[in-house]
Amino acid sequence: MTILVLGSANADLVVTVPHRPRAGETVLGGDVRTLPGGKGANTAVAAARLGARVVFAGAVGRDGHGELLRTSLADAGVDTAHLRTSDRPTGTAHITVTPDGENSIVVSPGANADLRESDIDALPWQDVATLVCSLEIPVPVVCHAIRTAAGHGVRAVLNLSPVTDLPDDVLPLLDPLVVNEQEAEALGTSVDVPRATVITLGADGARLGDRRFPASRVRAVDTTGAGDAFTGALVRELDQGVTLPEAVGFAIRAAAWSVTREGAQPSYPDLADLSGERGRPAVRRPG
Ligand code: RIB
Ligand code: NA
Repeated sequence: MTILVLGSANADLVVTVPHRPRAGETVLGGDVRTLPGGKGANTAVAAARLGARVVFAGAVGRDGHGELLRTSLADAGVDTAHLRTSDRPTGTAHITVTPDGENSIVVSPGANADLRESDIDALPWQDVATLVCSLEIPVPVVCHAIRTAAGHGVRAVLNLSPVTDLPDDVLPLLDPLVVNEQEAEALGTSVDVPRATVITLGADGARLGDRRFPASRVRAVDTTGAGDAFTGALVRELDQGVTLPEAVGFAIRAAAWSVTREGAQPSYPDLADLSGERGRPAVRRPG
């Protein structure tokens, strides 16, 4: 079955800093690294690296960053036939990482903001079993995709990140909605709850209703894109026909693996990484 991922593709410009600058402060960091990222492209790469058949729908510019994204997606086996080239520059994410592995991100959407509803209508819906979306692209385009999926009997999964208000009819179409604790809080209790909502808890794993799924302890190097690794692994499992609770357990392991390595896409595991001795990031200790 084919998973269609709709979302952003960014070049991540990553600098390690001793601490996050306060307003008006200048901090000297390490050498800048330019890595493939963006919540949509990250999710696509995470699912494909775990063996899923993935089509990515998004937009990049006519620039080196766009080539970086195309190469990373293609190397993971993602179909990029619906990755459009825009006249705007490829999106960039300006990321600072502190020694605890936590990050702060400013995104310049660029080409991502150029996605349109007509791009959605041109997608190969007849081949798709699961749609997975994230934000960082225009909200009306995401809503149009979710409604189109519903019309085709395609399962729709949304990682509501960054959190945004959605029209009332969209949330009930999601199976599941994936949010982190802050996003869940921002959504509040006034919204129609989708059939299933997965709440990710960072180092503490995830929650599905009242059920908690713990994560094994790992040494975090860079948590950038861990939520996208989670979502990609989750839809890979759902596409294989496993139950949502089982898929959540697998997705936690994939996300835990990713935080032990630098960057977003370059840190995502394949199936061999998650099985046997290679699958225990908790035992990987520095030198
Ligand atoms: O979720 C992580 C991603 O958010 C990064 O790769 C960055 O591009 C931002 O979009
Ligand atoms: Na990582």
